[in-house]
Amino acid sequence: MEYSKQVIKLGCCLLELLSEALGLSPNHLKDIGCAEGLAVLCHYYPACPQPELTVGTTKHSDDDFLTVLLQDHIGGLQVLHQNHWVDCPPTPGALVLISNDKFKSIEHRVLANRVGPRVSVACFFSTDLQPSSKVYGPIKELLSEENPPKYRETTVRDYVVDFQAKGLDGNSVLSHFKL
Ligand code: OGA
Ligand code: NI
Repeated sequence: MEYSKQVIKLGCCLLELLSEALGLSPNHLKDIGCAEGLAVLCHYYPACPQPELTVGTTKHSDDDFLTVLLQDHIGGLQVLHQNHWVDCPPTPGALVLISNDKFKSIEHRVLANRVGPRVSVACFFSTDLQPSSKVYGPIKELLSEENPPKYRETTVRDYVVDFQAKGLDGNSVLSHFKL
């Protein structure tokens, strides 16, 4: 409970910085509900005798706004950058931040490892976790003639339905909403 409390504080601070970096008022992202829901997933990856035959978590992007990930010293997390898998080696005392589908999706995966277990704690900042008719779309303040919307608006409900129907197939659900 204490960890969640501290992570919410950090997440809200990050949303303020992201809002400012986008040229918006500091409260913009919080005000539209980017920190209304927090889901915490604790992962346990057992040691794997034949890691070349499998994977810890397949390629995916998360369905939230922002993920704060705490990983232990084992390693195996990778992000896809310009079509190459890049290691995110564990750094003692560091958290990994993953921006996701509702901002700019970063695809990532976790390799299986001969040593283990590996333990990680992923905190997902999201809208209220109930699928609702609340509408999200391109931020109006950022649109102009030179910068037209790239995605159509969606309700949280439609977005969640699409995300869950798709499963972890390696593609971002955002592509379903491209204009
Ligand atoms: C996730 C995730 C990575 C990890 O939970 O979505 O990507 O290191 N976890 O366990
Ligand atoms: Ni993830």
